[in-house]
Amino acid sequence: MTDALLVETRTADTAAWWRQAAVYQIYPRSFADANGDGLGDIPGILSRVDYLEKLGIDAVWLSPFYPSALADGGYDVADYRDVDPRLGTLEDFDAMVAALHARGIRVVVDIVPNHTSDLHEWFQEALAAGRGSAARERFIFREGKGENGELPPTDWVSVFGGSAWERVEDGQWYFHNFAVEQPDLNWDNPEVREDFLTTLRFWSDRGVDGFRIDVAHMLTKDLSEPLPSRAELDAIPQDGNHPLIDRDDVHEIYAEWRRVFDEYDPPRTAVAEAWVSTPERRAKYASAEGLGQAFNFDLLVADFDAEEFRTIIADNLAQSDTTGSSTTWVLSNHDVTRHATRYGLPALNGRHVKQGTEWVAAGGPDEGIDREQGLRRAHAATLLLLGLPGSTYLYQGEELGLQEVAEITPEERQDPTFFRGGEFDGLGRDGCRVPLPWTASGPSFGFGAVEAHLPQPAWFAAFAADVEAADPSSTLSLYREALRLRRVLQADESLQWIETGRADVLRFARPNGWQVVTNFGTEPFDLGKDAVDVVLGAVDGGAVPGESTVWIAPAGLIG
Ligand code: GLC
Repeated sequence: MTDALLVETRTADTAAWWRQAAVYQIYPRSFADANGDGLGDIPGILSRVDYLEKLGIDAVWLSPFYPSALADGGYDVADYRDVDPRLGTLEDFDAMVAALHARGIRVVVDIVPNHTSDLHEWFQEALAAGRGSAARERFIFREGKGENGELPPTDWVSVFGGSAWERVEDGQWYFHNFAVEQPDLNWDNPEVREDFLTTLRFWSDRGVDGFRIDVAHMLTKDLSEPLPSRAELDAIPQDGNHPLIDRDDVHEIYAEWRRVFDEYDPPRTAVAEAWVSTPERRAKYASAEGLGQAFNFDLLVADFDAEEFRTIIADNLAQSDTTGSSTTWVLSNHDVTRHATRYGLPALNGRHVKQGTEWVAAGGPDEGIDREQGLRRAHAATLLLLGLPGSTYLYQGEELGLQEVAEITPEERQDPTFFRGGEFDGLGRDGCRVPLPWTASGPSFGFGAVEAHLPQPAWFAAFAADVEAADPSSTLSLYREALRLRRVLQADESLQWIETGRADVLRFARPNGWQVVTNFGTEPFDLGKDAVDVVLGAVDGGAVPGESTVWIAPAGLIG
């Protein structure tokens, strides 16, 4: 297939582009810094369009780039319809979209509807307007308990730790699921609903192809009195009627959003970030009448284990059959320890590592991480994922094989979860958000500034994009080749398992004969005569080495 043909396939305006897309997550403040102020920006992304094209992804998803005080890395949005002046202008955004579209790369932006920033004009208005005002109705204000209302309305704890209520000057309290600077919106308020439709249209009109919906499962709430205590709240099943989490009535909102998405041609897409209790509950977010797709985070909390992978893959494919959506795969994002590090940890449970009988937050410098093994397994898992039906979400830096950065001092840390010790206890999420190394030498490894907003360790030099681009055996070269071949080999959304006779080896075939073999164990797995058809990954004496993946394509499939 010629390059010209490839570009044509990529830009074809098919409404189903997202179903099997490789989507690359950009964390804008840490991607590339064009103006040298230490924060990555939109012109920085524009300057790396060649890199993104060469990588071979189908779309980029941009974490928030909106005006923000960065109380939560940009997930505290002060204005949903603008660009943070430190990151550029709306004109820069338009230029970036045009440049990406010209290369056949689609653009997904992050929508944060559960909460605003406390600097959002609505919240400022609410503070000024006082109790009982219409402005306060857009948020969740309550009187406190105790003689003078000096106690919070409930003993609820925020996801980031500490009380979920904060008192304002006149004595009322407001509710925040996350940081203090992220007041929750009141989704019973028609103005709130209307305003998000305006935001969705605003970005859709600017050519954005899709949306990632932040904490999509928390928007609606039942806060009718009497409010339950924390213990009572925790005991309520999350079956659609929980006061705070994954309520059935949230889907009325997404049905309305779907009507907006469908005003466009091709319809705008959406993917829900919904940490819900069962695959069945997740399916609701992926329905065609709702957001259309939902993240599947099962692999973020799975070990590098054949049986676990097989069960997760089978369950999720079965689930996508029922929703009509496509499956999604994720190994890393801006909220979790990078998978090259996770897979080098001695034992793992999501973000946590076992020390003795205790689970503690992963990513510390002294946990006996085997980084070589971590990277080897990361390659194997990524190649497995890229061979699966459905779409894969990649996180910036994983294509360089980056490890989690543990050596950030408490003074340098930014993540509110580090300071509040909530659900993401321990080191927090800064270690996967350190600005990318573009060059092995020079200030901030070519990120752009003299000093990046989070410190980059000296070992970043070995992972620099320029070093890896020149090395055919690098992680970057592997990702490029995998993404190139994936496009050529792409097949219908199904797979057939091929029994291997080994509990630690998974093998499956796609309908066109493309096969993926992952050896999770350490003993080589003999491929027999199929070894000659290996098109990606290394075989050794006709066998798949331990902790690695190969792709097999019968002659003729690659043209
Ligand atoms: C989502 C984001 C995370 C953010 C939180 C609150 O989980 O991925 O980064 O802190 O929502 O907006």
